[in-house]
Amino acid sequence: MTAHSTIPLIDTHAHILPFWDDGADSWETALAMVKQAEEDGIVEAVCTPHILSKQEFQQESILLGRFEELSKRVKEAGLHVRLYMGSEIFIHPELDLQYRIATPAGNGRYFLVEFPMSLTPESVTQSFLNEIFKAKIPVIAHPERYLRILNNPTEAYRYVERGALLQLNAGSILGNFGQMIRELSHFLLDANLVHLVASDAHDVHSRPLRLRKAFDYVSHKWSEDKARQLFNENPAKMLRGDVIRSEPKPPQQKTKTKWGRYMKSFTKKMGTFNG
Ligand SMILES: [Fe+2]
Repeated sequence: MTAHSTIPLIDTHAHILPFWDDGADSWETALAMVKQAEEDGIVEAVCTPHILSKQEFQQESILLGRFEELSKRVKEAGLHVRLYMGSEIFIHPELDLQYRIATPAGNGRYFLVEFPMSLTPESVTQSFLNEIFKAKIPVIAHPERYLRILNNPTEAYRYVERGALLQLNAGSILGNFGQMIRELSHFLLDANLVHLVASDAHDVHSRPLRLRKAFDYVSHKWSEDKARQLFNENPAKMLRGDVIRSEPKPPQQKTKTKWGRYMKSFTKKMGTFNG
């Protein structure tokens, strides 16, 4: 066992709560996911059910009740992963962050937000950049999967420059979502535009609650310091509402050109890209 493999990992994005979204489909699956996390060395994890509308936020008492039930079952099963409540909020104009589950673990500073996978209209992007940042700090979930950023990776810099943080999926780094998303993940990591990595777990098989393999990969390809920051230190800061340092530098122009060429040959090879 290498030294870095003992570093405890913290997962800030997981669909563990059952019967709500496309995550866990039963209490058994939910418990199996938590067990999987424990075996992987994950010590803390946030339940982040999808919140697609204002109406769903208004049902937060249902989610909070389910979270209590899961916590009870986890304790009864003798598992030690510490669970928190949060949400993954789909971007929409009436984003109300006053709800208890709006900021993971009630941190009060950061919220987890997702964009549409297809092209986000410029007007939505603009209103997001202009309005929402005033209230709290957005942590943008899986930017590497958005067509807008796949088309132009320097777009990611635009968000980070304005104060947003970026959270990659562990599976994207490893190539589980395909070569193009893997390349973009590595580009964002190289450009120092990534602040956290999370599992975005949905089940125990295809999208498991594991981080260790991606942690080891980042340790070897970049550095153990970087891995520790992305899988432990920054996630801990997010949950406690502490300041996460961000020093974005604009990616070099020539990288964009190189990426443009890559995209061209990729789309030619693959036909149309459907996200
Ligand atoms: Fe998610």
